[in-house]
Amino acid sequence: MTLRPPTVQWLADDGAAYRQPGPSARQHGFLDIIDQTKLPKELVRLQLCNPDDIYDAIKRLAVRGAPAIGCAAALGLAAVAQRLQASSPPDFIQQVRQIADYLASSRPTAVNLEWALNRCLGKLTAGSIPDLQQALLDEALAILQEDIAMCEAIGRHGMTLLRPGMGVLTHCNAGALATGGCGTALAPIYAAQAAGCDVHVFSDETRPLLQGARLTAWELSVSGVKVTTICDSMAAQVMREKRVDIVIVGADRVAANGDAANKIGTYQLAIAARYHRIPFYVAMPYSTIDRNLSTGDSIPIEQRSPDEIDHCPGVQVYNPAFDVTPHDLITGYITERGILAQP
Ligand code: MRU
Repeated sequence: MTLRPPTVQWLADDGAAYRQPGPSARQHGFLDIIDQTKLPKELVRLQLCNPDDIYDAIKRLAVRGAPAIGCAAALGLAAVAQRLQASSPPDFIQQVRQIADYLASSRPTAVNLEWALNRCLGKLTAGSIPDLQQALLDEALAILQEDIAMCEAIGRHGMTLLRPGMGVLTHCNAGALATGGCGTALAPIYAAQAAGCDVHVFSDETRPLLQGARLTAWELSVSGVKVTTICDSMAAQVMREKRVDIVIVGADRVAANGDAANKIGTYQLAIAARYHRIPFYVAMPYSTIDRNLSTGDSIPIEQRSPDEIDHCPGVQVYNPAFDVTPHDLITGYITERGILAQP
């Protein structure tokens, strides 16, 4: 039994929580998320319904991880849309488009954010304002429901790579906290656990914001998965000690040639894994593939504040949030469609 609370959901005004579209979900409500900046010390939920708060929650990583920010932005847009004052359906659509553009600008690297918002905007065709509001909420809940199913499928496919007692190295957090469901990189681990196949996860701490040490360690430990936190700089040594049989990471955007953007530090892990002849897998929904970009060189890389890194006053800081792992270092892509040699 899992003790993991939902990362992203719809909270109706009457307090009922929804993760699926349907007549019962058709209520006025809020985007409801775990505030991940508070984990693991506190489990705090936030209810959001205005554009600045939703933008801010994504920007400061209260909700984070590529699929989760897509789900949050879609549900957030639905919550905002329910409160808009519009004079006509075209005026409503114009306002919703502006808000979607604003939310999409909160983080540039994960393709899921823009993808989810565009899916919602695609539902704004004809009808009254209440019809359009309903269409946005239904689409946002459909995205969330698909995300849950996608995670389960990734888990089913990915668990075929795992054997009891294996050491699995992961980076950042591509688990339940990064998705609407049970995760991408961590989904095979949860699926294997449910089938009685226990593995040992090494979780990089993931500087500077410690998604591995705070979030991956938290969600695996509350789920009863054996997890050991290591500093990012220890990964090659842990591989050399033969504690790692497989590396599985998530992705924020994968170019058409298979180059994969993920949390900064992923690229060096792939190099170390190749040197130690350890298979290196990227787990992600198929929608993470951006076929508009032929290689990873064109993936926009988010630059974050110097304040996230302890530094000597007056000294320059360089803080890219993501890096790009070249496709030739990637053994395969674990997707809901199966394990692919190429995307
Ligand atoms: O900056 P973050 O915490 O949003 O970065 C998250 C990652 O890099 C994840 O690995 C990626 O989004 C995939 S999540 C399933």
